[in-house]
Amino acid sequence: MTNDLYAVVGNPISHSKSPRIHSLFASETGEPVEYTAIQAPRDDFAGTVKQFFERGGKGLNVTVPFKEEAWKLADRRTERAENAGAANTLYLDGDGVLVADNTDGCGIVRDLLINHGVTLNAARILVLGAGGAVRGVLGPILAEHPGAITIANRTVAKAEALVELFTPVAGETRLSACGFEQPSEPFDLIINGTSASLQGDLPPLSPKVIAEKTVVYDMMYSLQTTTFNRWALEQGAQIVHDGLGMLVEQAAESFRIWRGVSPATGPVIDELRND
Ligand code: ATR
Repeated sequence: MTNDLYAVVGNPISHSKSPRIHSLFASETGEPVEYTAIQAPRDDFAGTVKQFFERGGKGLNVTVPFKEEAWKLADRRTERAENAGAANTLYLDGDGVLVADNTDGCGIVRDLLINHGVTLNAARILVLGAGGAVRGVLGPILAEHPGAITIANRTVAKAEALVELFTPVAGETRLSACGFEQPSEPFDLIINGTSASLQGDLPPLSPKVIAEKTVVYDMMYSLQTTTFNRWALEQGAQIVHDGLGMLVEQAAESFRIWRGVSPATGPVIDELRND
């Protein structure tokens, strides 16, 4: 039996852990899946996608910088992709229609709830950043009914725009926007969705946002403690997590969409942690 072909598309792509994660899922589940990495030219994402599916490819993951383009390219979007304004998963439905989904939000929620036992219901959450990464996860986080979400960003207008966008699906959750310096009370959960650490920066937060029980979650992932989590530990945080679990969980949800089988994620997270 020949394997079904899947791939992750990005630029650059050589660092991507997706081929390794999906190969581990394939071995674990026995699904006949072959998963590669494709570097698309920055000006021809659409052509790369078209060629992949014409060659019989079954599904794509999409990463930086093409997630918004993937969203635009699709003929149909799931509700969570619609809210996210970006797509990380593409496939053709039975009629050959290109469908876009976004599994990032599902990934962070499962990592928090299942892998780390963090309660989101009624929680007071501080979200740092208001770019694509944050927009991608707000819908699924809101679906867990937190008490309040404060979105803090360097450019406050972008945080305000997200509050406006998500208010219709926020239900009882109080949504607010501010700059980084403003919050001065402890939160139950702080999620860093900024890319500040890529420039060697930290969001200029008050240490008062951290209490002993505050859970700190950096959507970034690195083999060492991330820059943001190091800062949080220095301020007295006791519980910090990075985004490795989110990475594996979002991949597992894509795998489930494509194959109808949910792989176990724990062994894969452990394996990557030991790389
Ligand atoms: P991504 O897809 O990773 O979310 P993005 O859409 O470019 O990328 O968003 C990056 C986020 O990190 C934004 O919230 C950005 O703040 P601005 O909206 O003010 O640009 C934030 N960010 C990037 N560099 C930062 C820095 N050096 N300090 C603080 N925040 C930063």
